[in-house]
Amino acid sequence: MPGVFIKTYGCQMNERDSEAVAAQLVAKGYTLAPSEAAADVILLNTCSVRDFAEQKAIGKMQNIAADVRKNRPDVVLGFMGCMAQSRGQELIDKLPDVDLVLGTQKFHHAADYLDEILAGRRDKIVDVAAEPGSEATIREHLLNGNAQKSVTAFVSIMQGCNQYCTFCIVPDTRGEERSRSIPDIVAECRQLVSQGVKEITLLGQIVTSYGKRENIWTAAASEARRRFSDNDALVVAEAKAPSPLRSAGAVQNGKSPFVQLLDAVHEIEGLERIRFTAPHPKGYGDDLIQAYARLPKLVESAHLPVQSGSDRVLKLMHRGYTRERFLGIVKKLRRTKPDIGITTDIIVGFPGETEDDFEQTLSLTREVRFDNAYIFKYSQRRDTPAAEMPGQVPLKIREERNQRLLKTINEIGKQKYDAFIGRRTQILVEGPSKKNPARLTGRTRCNKIVVFDGSERHRGQLLDVKITRAGSFTLYGDPAIVNL
Ligand code: 5AD
Repeated sequence: MPGVFIKTYGCQMNERDSEAVAAQLVAKGYTLAPSEAAADVILLNTCSVRDFAEQKAIGKMQNIAADVRKNRPDVVLGFMGCMAQSRGQELIDKLPDVDLVLGTQKFHHAADYLDEILAGRRDKIVDVAAEPGSEATIREHLLNGNAQKSVTAFVSIMQGCNQYCTFCIVPDTRGEERSRSIPDIVAECRQLVSQGVKEITLLGQIVTSYGKRENIWTAAASEARRRFSDNDALVVAEAKAPSPLRSAGAVQNGKSPFVQLLDAVHEIEGLERIRFTAPHPKGYGDDLIQAYARLPKLVESAHLPVQSGSDRVLKLMHRGYTRERFLGIVKKLRRTKPDIGITTDIIVGFPGETEDDFEQTLSLTREVRFDNAYIFKYSQRRDTPAAEMPGQVPLKIREERNQRLLKTINEIGKQKYDAFIGRRTQILVEGPSKKNPARLTGRTRCNKIVVFDGSERHRGQLLDVKITRAGSFTLYGDPAIVNL
């Protein structure tokens, strides 16, 4: 059977999409090739968020094509995901060796299309059309390539984004917001838990807008029943649907659809931890803040993309909150959960960002004291309003601001991580450390990685460890003090 190799660029949503495509192909009899060199099909799952990510994938495909066309002309080459969606046919015009361009609403057709190409029935396929219902098709899991072993899993709950931040290409690459139903999501989570998964991360481009546009208790529910063998899960979930069934986006007992989803997932027996990403700060209403207090499985961790500390820039970005509102959310979260880990995304050099605006981002960073932050140099994206705004910031200044912000983030991060030394903390053990497979790695509830000397039998366990040392955004636990 053909071997497939998938390389993934970008975010966790992309990781999840690659996993679903791989699982789908394995179910159809494909094998997973250990490298490009050993593959009959090479797929690049792409990211468009910055130009750099696109250029990396294009460069990679050029190298692969040059090699493959010389030595192994029958190998099938494909782009999928965000850049495939936004560039479509243009990619084949630029790189004629590419056989398949698969958009973000078409992952579930990967196997059929590859079969057709491999069988010689079709030469090239470009499919980037919108497909209603595609949000419910990312559901097959490959747990560590082995259905028995994975401790953590990602579950896609919605697709797309309607926030239209002026810098962002996501509305183009992922389309309008579409949410899966609660019964459908709960059934998938239950199935994962029955296979040994202990921690689930709910994924979407803007998870706090989950269910704003559809009836989350009924949409696709009957389809889910057909799909999942765990019929009981669905019956249980449906029984909890408020009666009479509500309309799109309805708030129930003061709870937004996203918080209703958290409640439903929280009830799954055997599930230990719930995470989610990525939320929008404006979605942090009191119902979500209270959820951290009410739901013990919802871990003390929040990724809150702030993007800028300047109200003027936030407005130009169309973010929908002010600096003060953002700081208010952080304060409330810390009042509810003092140990909560808070991370963020920040863009430096947005068009029109002055030195004073940037100083405000620096001061916000110091005020919040983020546990970590992902810093992005602003990148012009086609067809986005910011790309046309006056005052585009020269690369040199963007780089310089990046360095200054990074220094601040690293200093604060170091203090925050050092503060863990000597503390006991609970971790969920995920498996061998990637850097050093002789050691194990786990995560604290506040989402910090802890490396320790343990053994395979610790995998999947919740352990108390004592933190002995802190490295760069990593903690180390003392094996002698591990509770056995
Ligand atoms: N330029 C730079 N960074 C961007 N991001 C999104 N669009 C752009 C862009 N045009 C960043 C934001 C977002 C993260 C995933 O990527 O910070 O939160």
